[in-house]
Amino acid sequence: MSVPDPDRMLARIGFLDPLAGAIQKRVRRVLAEGGPAAAAAKDLLNGRQLGHPLHPLLTDLPIGAWTASTLLDLVTGRERGLEPASDALIGLGCASGAMAALAGLADWQDSYGSERRVGLAHALLNSSALALFTGALGLRLSGRRRPARPLAVAGYLLATAGAYLGGDLVFRLGTQVNRNAWTEGPGDWRDAAAADEVQPDRLLKCAPDGVPVLLTRIGGRVCAVGSVCPHAGGPLEEGTFAAGVVTCPWHGSRFDLSTGAVLTGPAFTPLPRYQVRVTDQGRVELRQARP
Ligand code: FES
Repeated sequence: MSVPDPDRMLARIGFLDPLAGAIQKRVRRVLAEGGPAAAAAKDLLNGRQLGHPLHPLLTDLPIGAWTASTLLDLVTGRERGLEPASDALIGLGCASGAMAALAGLADWQDSYGSERRVGLAHALLNSSALALFTGALGLRLSGRRRPARPLAVAGYLLATAGAYLGGDLVFRLGTQVNRNAWTEGPGDWRDAAAADEVQPDRLLKCAPDGVPVLLTRIGGRVCAVGSVCPHAGGPLEEGTFAAGVVTCPWHGSRFDLSTGAVLTGPAFTPLPRYQVRVTDQGRVELRQARP
């Protein structure tokens, strides 16, 4: 049996890429007009404070609530006593689904290519599911429970298809996966560079044992962190650098070079950090920092 490739199928839908570009342009404008408050809100929605994206955490709520309400409706039929419980579950699913949509939009805004196309289809399916469940809830609360049922069933099917594409985004395309998750620095000291090449006003890239590392000097001390942006793999040596902070050239994440900490997203995991020593021969050596 051949495995479906959603991206190949979606690439044939001509309007997806132009629509994605138009939405990203509009969101970029809203973020620019919103200034620091909008940037802080996006940072929060990206999940930097959690150490991983907020979106998958929030998506569990509508999926669980809508599954439980669908089961309750199927099992209890017209038994009136449990209908308020099912209404409350649909309401919880709609409220948390709206929050999940916002967090997803914040993540998707920085995507491109296949990720952007599949992400948009994922969002369209889930937004349609949210609209159908919201409509079903309105009908139920106004006493029209019979016509509400097909809306909820259709919403549940769309949400399931959306969840499939969500899995495809993460597990096949690697969206929002820490790009340094499998990076292991040398366990023992390795030669990296000549000490006088490491200057406060520049970033020096080296690769002891094939591991990409950035070196710079902050307050006279040599600092070493990973050179690959954990968000989507941006080359930090090509980013802008000032006052001990490097800004990723791809989506603008900022990192403290002395600690590797993320100062602003969309990245959510710190850079790998390395211990450094300068030998009597004037060579910089480094090894993986111990936790
Ligand atoms: S690759 Fe996206 S912020 Fe660096």
